[in-house]
Amino acid sequence: MEDNIQNICTECQEKTKILYKYRDGFFTPKLKGINHLEVGYSWVISNPVTIFIEYLYVVWKRIRRLIRRLSNWLFPRRPHIHAGRLDSYITGRIIHADHKETTSPIHHIKLEFWGRTKWYLGFQWRKLGETESNNYGIFHLDYTLRQARNFKTGSLRLEIHQPFEVHYNGDKPSTSHRLYHSIPLIKTNLIGMGYYVHTLALPLWEYRKDTPLPRTFHSKDSHLISEVFSQGRIDAFKQQVIPIELTKRKHMFQIEKEPGMLSIADIQADYPENLTICLEKKLPGYSRSDEWFGIRMMNGMNMGSFQPDKHDASLYHIRYFGICNYDHNTKFALPDADIVFRIDSAGPPKPVSITFTGQLNAYNNDPWQKHTYTPSSGDEWLQAKRLARVCGSVVAEVDDHFAGTHVNTEQYAIAAFRNFRKNPVTWLLYPHLKEVSVINVSADNILIHGFLPSNTALTEKGVKDRVYDAMGTQNWKGWKPMKVINDSHTYAIAENLFWDITGKFVDFFFEKYEAGIKEHWNEVYSFSNDLVNHSVAVFQSQVITDMLSTEERERSRERFEYACFRYAYDPINSVKIVDGERKVVSPITLTENFQHEEDFRNLKSACRYAIMMATFSHTWINEHQYDDLGEILYNCGGLRFGDKQRGVMAPESDLSIAPDLTRSTQMLWFTNLLSRTEYGFITKNEEQDIHPYFIQLLNENKETFAKLGVDIESIESRTNI
Ligand SMILES: [Fe+2]
Repeated sequence: MEDNIQNICTECQEKTKILYKYRDGFFTPKLKGINHLEVGYSWVISNPVTIFIEYLYVVWKRIRRLIRRLSNWLFPRRPHIHAGRLDSYITGRIIHADHKETTSPIHHIKLEFWGRTKWYLGFQWRKLGETESNNYGIFHLDYTLRQARNFKTGSLRLEIHQPFEVHYNGDKPSTSHRLYHSIPLIKTNLIGMGYYVHTLALPLWEYRKDTPLPRTFHSKDSHLISEVFSQGRIDAFKQQVIPIELTKRKHMFQIEKEPGMLSIADIQADYPENLTICLEKKLPGYSRSDEWFGIRMMNGMNMGSFQPDKHDASLYHIRYFGICNYDHNTKFALPDADIVFRIDSAGPPKPVSITFTGQLNAYNNDPWQKHTYTPSSGDEWLQAKRLARVCGSVVAEVDDHFAGTHVNTEQYAIAAFRNFRKNPVTWLLYPHLKEVSVINVSADNILIHGFLPSNTALTEKGVKDRVYDAMGTQNWKGWKPMKVINDSHTYAIAENLFWDITGKFVDFFFEKYEAGIKEHWNEVYSFSNDLVNHSVAVFQSQVITDMLSTEERERSRERFEYACFRYAYDPINSVKIVDGERKVVSPITLTENFQHEEDFRNLKSACRYAIMMATFSHTWINEHQYDDLGEILYNCGGLRFGDKQRGVMAPESDLSIAPDLTRSTQMLWFTNLLSRTEYGFITKNEEQDIHPYFIQLLNENKETFAKLGVDIESIESRTNI
């Protein structure tokens, strides 16, 4: 019987596996772009006339590309410098626009000085000089005055080039640069020995000022863009998302015109079958069983952390903290849930009780009311498991998915892209940290502003405050994967294996480039400063506890204790105080030049952690969303209180507590979108930017991962959805 269940589960996992099919045709609708996604109506082009106009636009873009290529051929920018005696110079300083001049230079950035001949001499480019800024952002570019002032020269410009992409040719890395900004210089201003262009404050990888989170400011000026998606990522996304978008649009249209003609069952049937629906068809009732509940709590999207019970060694707790003190609406339930499991030396966890703290119906709004359910509670046990799943999903999406992987990875990305240019760590980190800052802009719109406030109990303010708190226990120092409880704990086994592989890869890289890493230590120093100074305060360390009630203080303490356990966080490692705030992230080094071997180990640990978060940790939660949140009545972002005394403790057949039609299609659209539009995988290495040793290590462990239900081909190299 057990083997049969296992076979059916495997069959369903295979059947509902995420596929990446790229289908396209001339008159098929097209998405305008990733940043035009909306929880309501995304910007889709479907009218044949608009499609034709869009086609003309695409043709025009192709022609423009051809013209540029022709122009590059006619007017090549040869790297050779046209100079005689270097008798003059341009000097200045480049700083980040977000900081005080003395503290935030843009160091080691490439500058080039170009001249262009007059039209009757063919607009030819002449490279007149090049340099890079020093540790303090100061640059000194030598050139030949006579060359620049030559009557043939029509125009002059100073260009700033940012390192942009890393490529591997075999195991040989290289960094390509792209033009970030150019400043026209007037020829007649170049007189005498030197020309001072003053201090240039640029928004290159600038921190946002409108949020306490370490987020990237994206300039609207197309000439000052810090990061864009790769073309491959944009193309893959647009094509994969269209069928899902059209399904949602159809539902939204029906809801607007004839809501009575649409049901939750219709909506469900229009989206691809997910894991639990497939299971229900083959094994009715199994997806609602205790066994499945235990399996998914252990190895599903939420990959719960089992905190040992303080009194009984065979019992463990998974804890979800709900609305707490966050701003919330009164439509949806989101109580705290304490789920107790018995876990034997073999087999999945067996749930023994679920205790909710908080409001379960529209009439009793006491936030401290407690309700406990056990397997002997009859139908209420089924209802309690459903509510626990829902609480778990909200916590997983906000705390683990968005804060723990997206924002957490972004804080390493900004600090890395601001600082690593000459240090070999550039080749290690860039491929894994790219694109997260741009996908997070979309997440702000569709997740934080759109989906979560309308589908869960939390308001937008509530979500933002919660994300800040959730970041307060995310630190590289001391982090380790979850402890394996028994052989059924496949998530933890896979997580440990991936962590070991990442460690081997990072060790290998640091051994190979040790000299270069130590030589350019000042970049590590500024990386560490940016990372730490912009990290959030330790979890609720800014809260004045005297203002809290006894219950609130106790919950805050328990929540912190559970978060420390789940995220392997030890507050002793958060040592830096900035403006009275104890920063959560630990410094990597305190010296501008390399001095301590321990700092070298710190850097290794921080890189290993950042890669882990950006790859395995994000992939896991992202790709399992459709498994666990792909059936409306099984799980969702929020159960409505409804108008009955029993509130959310009602059967699935009571549709008054289920998401309404709009929210149902939005949820399936959203989870489909996130789980099915991934692009950029480690082993596929679509952009030739992954170190071959990392790929080799994963391939060597392919079979072991497969036995744990992990397909290594689907592990993303970066967080970009
Ligand atoms: Fe994601």
